[in-house]
Amino acid sequence: MKKICVIGYPAKHSLSPAIHKYWLEKYGITGDYEIKETHPDNFVDFFCNMQNQGYCGCNITVPFKEKAFDLLVKSGGSLDVFAEVVGAINTIAIKEGKYIGRNSDTTGFLYNIISSKPDFSFTAGKAVILGAGGAARGVIASLLFAGVPEIIILNRTALNAINMLEYIKKEAIKLADAEDLDNIPNMYNLHSQIQIWPWDKRDEALKDANLLVNTTSLGMVGQPQLDINLNYLPQSALVTDIVYRPLITQLLQTAKDKNNPIIDGLGMLLYQATTGFEDWFGVKPEVTPELRNKITALL
Ligand code: ATR
Repeated sequence: MKKICVIGYPAKHSLSPAIHKYWLEKYGITGDYEIKETHPDNFVDFFCNMQNQGYCGCNITVPFKEKAFDLLVKSGGSLDVFAEVVGAINTIAIKEGKYIGRNSDTTGFLYNIISSKPDFSFTAGKAVILGAGGAARGVIASLLFAGVPEIIILNRTALNAINMLEYIKKEAIKLADAEDLDNIPNMYNLHSQIQIWPWDKRDEALKDANLLVNTTSLGMVGQPQLDINLNYLPQSALVTDIVYRPLITQLLQTAKDKNNPIIDGLGMLLYQATTGFEDWFGVKPEVTPELRNKITALL
């Protein structure tokens, strides 16, 4: 029986077991998916001995995504292009003793938008990204892959945005050769304009935007609210939040009240999980309304 786990610290509230167990049952596959909360001091040991512990793969969550990337590079494993551009992995599959690392947060973000709003055009205009942490890296890599012509990044700590952009710019050219993902065309835009704006200019940055993405933790349960005025945002602009606790954040509610299209963050979590499941169990799973409802009930 194949056994998979999610490793993180903390990890005990992870929704991943519920997602994967739903698919295992739905597709009649014998397998298991466990939570492996692991102190940072023990992560390297886990990484090196994963197979001995009976796992043929894992998901990796905070704070280990970058460390796992470094270890995988050092140990000669292979990476997908998104992992290379982002510098972090969230999925490992072990095939014939070899580690394969992927960054499916990136593809999860794309699949979520494409399946929720099939008519949305990434190439139609400017994207505004709030935040410059690990999640922002994945979102920016997705947007470059999808051919967004202009990106404005706003982050509380400008230096973090500068460092993030430097890393991505160095690696992003690799996206040009990335293969299509299940019919998602690679429109990689070499001439995409990327700018960093001061955090306090976030209201103005929304003028003429086609897409707004919150990648910060603001608005999450237990965190401060995101303070932003959407008055300048065109009504056609799509607003997404990677926060999914609560499912409808204050940002999404304000956008909805203005009649802007919105997409919540839960879909990204569900779609990122499809990559690992397919790698480990050889079946491409479906993100169904039933799955969404099941997971929403656990939030
Ligand atoms: P993740 O990997 O989930 O993206 P992270 O790397 O800790 O998490 O990034 C969190 C993001 O939320 C960062 O962009 C952070 O801004 P800083 O780079 O200035 O730290 C942003 N963030 C967190 N708390 C914030 C706050 N109170 N106001 C503005 N931005 C905040």
